[in-house]
Amino acid sequence: MTSLGTSGRRAAKISFACTECGHETVRWEGRCSGCGAWDSFREWTEPVERAMPAAYTAATPIALDELVIDGDARLSLGIPEFDRVLGGGLVPGSLVLIGGDPGIGKSTLVLQAAGSAAAKAPVLYVSAEESAAQVKMRAERLGLGGAKLLVLAETSLDASLRQADEIAPGLLVVDSVQAVFSEAAGTSAGSIAQLRECAGTLTRWAKTRGIPVLLIGHVTKDGDIAGPRMLEHVVDVVLYLEGERFSSYRLLRAVKNRFGSVDEIGVFEMTGAGMRGVENPSEAFIAERAAEPVGSVVVPVMEGTRPVLVELQALTSPTATPAPRRTANGLDSNRLTLVTAVLTRRLGVPLAGLDVIASVVGGLRVHEPAADLGLALAVCSSHRDEALPSKLVALGEVGLSGELRSVSHLERRLMEAERLGFERCLLPESTLHRQRPKTSIEMVVAPDLRRAMAIAFA
Ligand code: TYD
Ligand code: MG
Repeated sequence: MTSLGTSGRRAAKISFACTECGHETVRWEGRCSGCGAWDSFREWTEPVERAMPAAYTAATPIALDELVIDGDARLSLGIPEFDRVLGGGLVPGSLVLIGGDPGIGKSTLVLQAAGSAAAKAPVLYVSAEESAAQVKMRAERLGLGGAKLLVLAETSLDASLRQADEIAPGLLVVDSVQAVFSEAAGTSAGSIAQLRECAGTLTRWAKTRGIPVLLIGHVTKDGDIAGPRMLEHVVDVVLYLEGERFSSYRLLRAVKNRFGSVDEIGVFEMTGAGMRGVENPSEAFIAERAAEPVGSVVVPVMEGTRPVLVELQALTSPTATPAPRRTANGLDSNRLTLVTAVLTRRLGVPLAGLDVIASVVGGLRVHEPAADLGLALAVCSSHRDEALPSKLVALGEVGLSGELRSVSHLERRLMEAERLGFERCLLPESTLHRQRPKTSIEMVVAPDLRRAMAIAFA
């Protein structure tokens, strides 16, 4: 579909692209043939091809043997929870996208990181959304300062990069990718053509200068990095800041990382003076637990490679609608449906006329089947109006016939539970066939849900 002129240069091309997955077509489609999303196609004009600037063509082949890597080249952001998610700091020349819902705290966290990185080298913070005065007010609230943190309120990416080239900072921040525009893609800021052009320009800039770039991006309501899943392919690292709106806890999660594991999470708490790293998440998540809580169970879940204790709560109440409801907050609703169905059919718990609400306290999201047993215990505890032993934790996946299936990383989970003073853990029998964890916590095993219930409510 490209039309080559006599000069050999491509003319501007108009096509359509899906805002969800980036799938491109020549004609508008009501439903994306790439990802199935409805009404997601927008017209965009691919910029006319330009001659490559000299700086972009500078790379030359090097023999692998002659290549020397600077061992400790990563730039620490001075925030341990942030550095860990990155895999130990920012790699020179990498482009890191930080996504999250508006208002979740992206600008706050990144400004804090910029502030502490500025202790070592100049940092250029390009603020395309807020004025320099607004950034200053925020910095004051966060107690940040210093002559090396430079703020540029600018929406033109080209102008920002010209400034950056003069300053040669140790870190460039762009807040946000939706608010900047590049002259090469002649449409409005935030369009697909603009996002793609800006991300491409920033990648080339970062790679040729060897300077890391932190790029902030807003997220659409369904959780994709805005419009732009396509951005995920362009950048080196995708981090996602998430949390429930009314909870002060925030999780920083790696979705993609070319330089490290995607298993690590950082836990933060939004305070009056910015984001504070939570070194002991388990303690924080179960801190407000009642003494004899009905409908509450503590479960050691894995967040990446880290065990975290979370409190699952359930409430059963007579339904007011013809079809009883199953509501899951922070949990997979399919798991809740499965667990309640197994309780009804295999154990005869009469849940058919009851609404069941289950939630994870503290705004964490638990999607592990290992939390099934805990969920079942919480539902039964609420139904029987009887609290479980307070020093008990539970682990195990529930199968459709009510059998309990083993869980991974058992030892780490048990050690975390032990560290926080729990004394007993209810486990699937099959788990101990495969592993013998070293722990002084008492392990009580059950082959199926029925037996587990009998032990827990003994
Ligand atoms: P912000 O970083 O602007 O979010 P984003 O960039 O993701 O849109 O954070 C906005 C919210 O954070 C706002 O509701 C105020 C709150 N906040 C605090 O609670 N404490 C603070 O120290 C700061 C700076 C903001
Ligand atoms: Mg912001």
